[in-house]
Amino acid sequence: MPHHDPDLPFIRPVEPADLDAIVALEQRCFDRDAQTRRSLRYLLTRANAITLAAEQPGRLVGYLTLLLRRGARTARVYSIAVDAAARGQGLAAGLLAAAEDRATRLGCNRMVCEVRESNRASLALFAGHGYQRKRDLPAYYPGGEDGVRLEKRLD
Ligand SMILES: CC(C)(COP(=O)(O)OP(=O)(O)OC[C@H]1O[C@@H](n2cnc3c(N)ncnc32)[C@H](O)[C@@H]1OP(=O)(O)O)[C@@H](O)C(=O)NCCC(=O)NCCS
Repeated sequence: MPHHDPDLPFIRPVEPADLDAIVALEQRCFDRDAQTRRSLRYLLTRANAITLAAEQPGRLVGYLTLLLRRGARTARVYSIAVDAAARGQGLAAGLLAAAEDRATRLGCNRMVCEVRESNRASLALFAGHGYQRKRDLPAYYPGGEDGVRLEKRLD
């Protein structure tokens, strides 16, 4: 078994037993946009989605869901969240890098995601990882907020 420093966070695929922790994290991180337990459970078991967890000793503190489509070379970051107490430590950056690595190994050549124009932390995260603004999405979100489609080539 590979050695892992117990004080460091690490990134691993989620397991069905993580559902409660992910639902709780989702509710803490997204107020109006939180996905329901039912849809999170579905996401965790879907064949064409990969969810990665960031874990600190004994605790799930972040997750990222990547959506893939059969035969498509574009992977979509569907959701990413890190617990407020664990932010600013590079966990989202680690999740994103791990997701890009997975997508590349599955033959994808492009990552896309949609972000609210008001979400400065998220926009900075993706910009810092080489994602570019591809398209404005006027009134994309419920309530009418604008979004933006971001994109990164993986090759
Ligand atoms: C966005 C979010 C996932 C970032 O998580 P995080 O683990 O704190 O991010 P990291 O520590 O990996 O930061 C990586 C980069 O993101 C940017 N960033 C993260 N938080 C930021 C903030 N509050 N303000 C500005 N830039 C920020 C920085 O560029 C940072 O790079 P740096 O550390 O070299 O400066 C987290 O704030 C979150 O869960 N927010 C609520 C849920 C959400 O909005 N998800 C995104 C929906 S699209």
